[in-house]
Amino acid sequence: MVELIAKKRDGKELTKPELKHIVDGFVAGKIPDYQMSAFLMALYFNGMKPKETATFTELMMRSGDVIDLSSIKGIKVDKHSTGGVGDKTTLILAPLVAAAGVPVAKMTGRGLGHTGGTIDKLEAIKGMSVEMSKKKFIARLKKIGIAVCGQNEKLVPADKQIYALRDVTGTVKENSLIASSIMSKKLACGADAIVIDIKVGDGAFMKNLKEATQLGREMQAIGKQMGRKVIGVCTSMDQPLGRSVGNAIEVKEAIETLKGNGPADLTALCYQLGAQMLLLSYKTKTIDKAKAILKDLIDSGKAFEKFKQLVKEQGGDVNFVENPDKLPISKHSVDVLSPKSGYVTDLKAFGVGLTSVKLGAGRETKASVIDPGAGIYLHKKIGEQVKKGEPLATMYTQNKKAIKKAKELLLNAYTIKSTKPRKKKLILKIID
Ligand code: URA
Repeated sequence: MVELIAKKRDGKELTKPELKHIVDGFVAGKIPDYQMSAFLMALYFNGMKPKETATFTELMMRSGDVIDLSSIKGIKVDKHSTGGVGDKTTLILAPLVAAAGVPVAKMTGRGLGHTGGTIDKLEAIKGMSVEMSKKKFIARLKKIGIAVCGQNEKLVPADKQIYALRDVTGTVKENSLIASSIMSKKLACGADAIVIDIKVGDGAFMKNLKEATQLGREMQAIGKQMGRKVIGVCTSMDQPLGRSVGNAIEVKEAIETLKGNGPADLTALCYQLGAQMLLLSYKTKTIDKAKAILKDLIDSGKAFEKFKQLVKEQGGDVNFVENPDKLPISKHSVDVLSPKSGYVTDLKAFGVGLTSVKLGAGRETKASVIDPGAGIYLHKKIGEQVKKGEPLATMYTQNKKAIKKAKELLLNAYTIKSTKPRKKKLILKIID
């Protein structure tokens, strides 16, 4: 291992047997954390060549169960987001695309740092579980055309262990590591085609479009080597997506969106990503036709029905979905009032994400227990006018001690000026 650390430190390319020694050795507990940390730091500075990244990805993918979906007819699609604030897209997109007859095989994660996670959101629905065996995952896909599972000890354990170490050694933000981490999980779940929502901006890992494009290309290259189609959609994460940030509160907004009453940005993103998924599955040939199919599925109620089917199938109480007021949103709320009149010119996603963690919607430490009812409703977003003393946002929490700090963080995330800002683009680039 010392020789391999030095080889990467000197910027050289590692062979498959060398990478296998590292991945298998670390998962088996034969390589200690301090050596793996040194290796990751060497890799952080020197990156990996495309072939090396693909090999590293495949080795991680094969470190646990690999799901074979070939017994299911049609092109199976998956979607992944690199992580954002208020990003409840999966809750809408997965049932929406499944309602179009395209099997959606989805592995999803928990919140990381200031970003939320789909598992935490889904678990706000009483009884809902993302834990399932490989057999059950396939059976559900066959039965209702959609299954959403969480990463467990059996699925890509190498990524689980390496990610935990990256998280505490300052080695998360390197493109070949991010690309291999995401793609190993996507490939292990067996989908034929994958749409990656690459978040760009203040609340995302990728701070600009150039970095995001490079990441998209790396993931496409891995997909190509492994015989899967990958489309990257770079989207803005300068401000949170939609108006709700948290868990139960985001489920409520997702339900509204599935019924056609969601916020414009979230709805537009779901149509864009969903249309890419339909194109990848050859359901239709143009983006406009794909969007029309999706709109029809929302208007007819079929997408919402598919969501209810998913919740029921995975143990959730459909009552909570049919009556979203029953969702456990905290009864204790505090308005954050605007200190002046003007237009919101900036609303930093990172600051809003931190506020929601402070309120209890995310984890401050690995051991933290999430409060599903905690969260934020943003009355005002970029471009909207506000009067002095009017609520900018409402915070929900059971932790009264957190309110003072949370209010401070949230007010810092807002910038209010006297002139209306130019409209910002949500969809920045498609990497096809
Ligand atoms: N999400 C992942 O799954 N892995 C990374 O490395 C970064 C974001």
